[in-house]
Amino acid sequence: MADLSLFDLTGKTALVTGAAVGIGRGCAVALARAGAKVAIVDRNEKAGSQTAQEIRAQGHQAIFAACDVTQRGQIQDMVSRVVAEFGRLDIAVNNAGIAILGADEEIEQEAWDKVIAVNQTGVFLCAQAEARQMIRQTPTEGKIINIASMSATIANCNASYDSSKAGVVHMTKTLAAEWGRFNINVNCISPSYVLSSMHASTPLEVRQRIRDLTPMGHVERPEDLYGAVIFLASAASNYVTGHDLMVDGGHTLNAWLTPLSRSVPPRVSPEAEIVELKHDLDLLGFAYDRDGINTKVHPEIASAFEAAFGVKK
Ligand SMILES: NC(=O)c1ccc[n+]([C@@H]2O[C@H](COP(=O)([O-])OP(=O)(O)OC[C@H]3O[C@@H](n4cnc5c(N)ncnc54)[C@H](O)[C@@H]3O)[C@@H](O)[C@H]2O)c1
Repeated sequence: MADLSLFDLTGKTALVTGAAVGIGRGCAVALARAGAKVAIVDRNEKAGSQTAQEIRAQGHQAIFAACDVTQRGQIQDMVSRVVAEFGRLDIAVNNAGIAILGADEEIEQEAWDKVIAVNQTGVFLCAQAEARQMIRQTPTEGKIINIASMSATIANCNASYDSSKAGVVHMTKTLAAEWGRFNINVNCISPSYVLSSMHASTPLEVRQRIRDLTPMGHVERPEDLYGAVIFLASAASNYVTGHDLMVDGGHTLNAWLTPLSRSVPPRVSPEAEIVELKHDLDLLGFAYDRDGINTKVHPEIASAFEAAFGVKK
């Protein structure tokens, strides 16, 4: 029998921001399955409460805590609520994030400010409140995991999004260097294109292009992050800090040059890629077609990809 106790999170307590749907929900499910009690933190109360309920229905402990991560007071109240409920805070995943697409020569300052407020300042304010709790508790220790993006490393989206994520990667290094003295590990995970509601409007042709250019051959799902988040949340990563763990199926290795060939089918089929996406769209109350596409969720993403790839409507 294999000894997996290094990865066991039984008795640990965790919070995940932006966990109502998508990558955050995936992280919360992974932590709960590994044994942790989880707080689903989100500004979407309806979907967040339902996600907490679904995790409880699978036999795990979960609560919902409403919070807008751009509001410092709400963050402090949220951490206090989680600690009042669970007794301490061992693991925090700072995942809430947004993208506002648009050409950088035209984008309004308001859009820039919003993206930085959620993706960069929000991550910092959450990490600060979480670390204060981790420092105060006995034994003093904790695991902070920030969700960055491959866009921190490659020019993939636009300036506000890409630079907010590069900011998260570097902030992670700085906080890791500062908080190691409290036995707090700070790391980040950088996914590639993940089929969450963020990509509900991405055309089918673009999904195929992603598959063609990704060594592992399928589009990423929230589930593909389970292992990374459990590793960084558990004792298995006790000597890993300040690291940016790229979970991209090798996508960024190929640098958009030529399509790769395959010798065997990828582990995940196109039908399996969209199971979690459809679940998210149901939770959010959006209709979708058989491929899990609704061009109205993010019309700007649909039109940007259509223009870039010459997709005909
Ligand atoms: N989907 C991708 O392709 C992709 C790739 C790399 C990184 N990411 C990053 O992963 C994270 C999650 O993305 P996703 O694709 O699951 O997105 P999503 O839009 O599906 O879900 C985001 C969640 O965050 C919540 N949220 C947004 N702003 C918030 C705020 N101010 N306070 C509290 N909650 C807030 C939303 O309500 C939602 O539940 C983001 O940081 C995103 O930038 C996404």
